[in-house]
Amino acid sequence: MQPVRIAPSILSADFAKLGEEVRAIDAAGADWIHIDVMDGHFVPNISFGPAVMKSVRGVTAKPFDVHLMIAPVDAYLDAFAEAGADCITVHYEASPHIHRSLQHIKSLGKRAGVVICPGTPAKMLDYLLDMVDLVLVMSVNPGFGGQSFIPSQLKKITAIRTMIEKSGRMIDLEVDGGVDAEWAKRCIDAGADALVAGTSVFRGGPAQYAANIAALRGG
Ligand code: DX5
Ligand code: ZN
Repeated sequence: MQPVRIAPSILSADFAKLGEEVRAIDAAGADWIHIDVMDGHFVPNISFGPAVMKSVRGVTAKPFDVHLMIAPVDAYLDAFAEAGADCITVHYEASPHIHRSLQHIKSLGKRAGVVICPGTPAKMLDYLLDMVDLVLVMSVNPGFGGQSFIPSQLKKITAIRTMIEKSGRMIDLEVDGGVDAEWAKRCIDAGADALVAGTSVFRGGPAQYAANIAALRGG
């Protein structure tokens, strides 16, 4: 298990000044920049695509952690790689051939992540753990920021931590949705080593970002 990485989701940023917001979370201690891409089809909301992501690629050297909530997904992987993704994470539920999607991401020279929704069991990872760099556990149903953490997902985090240790591979275990300082602690105790947070990082404006991120690390 690695030291906890914090990945603020720019979904909660002020889009009118996206560049400044990314700079601000970088300066405030973000480890990764979490990019939520929604298509209005796989999830009932639309956010932004690779062009918007590319427009802020130049303002930070921090890794872009790209969470694709789009279906079909395969045809768009190259565009996100070109737009500056470091890790591309695809939904088990959104790809009919998840293994092929992950192979494709690896072939682009990017880190590959797989994400599972709250209703999807950890078992789905059995034949994917040997090829992924990151597993993302959704602790809300994907589509919107500001939802409440679903407590049952803690058990899943622990189960996946055990699977990762057994695999002997270095795989990040990330959690996304409703993570505030209290849930962050529970997630870390359960075995997570990367946390996505939108609402709880961007609350209070730029002057608060550093304190908000520190709180997620446990103070
Ligand atoms: C949900 C997104 C999350 C979410 C995080 O579909 O993947 O990244 O916006 O936001 P909060 O922390 O507000 O739940
Ligand atoms: Zn996300």
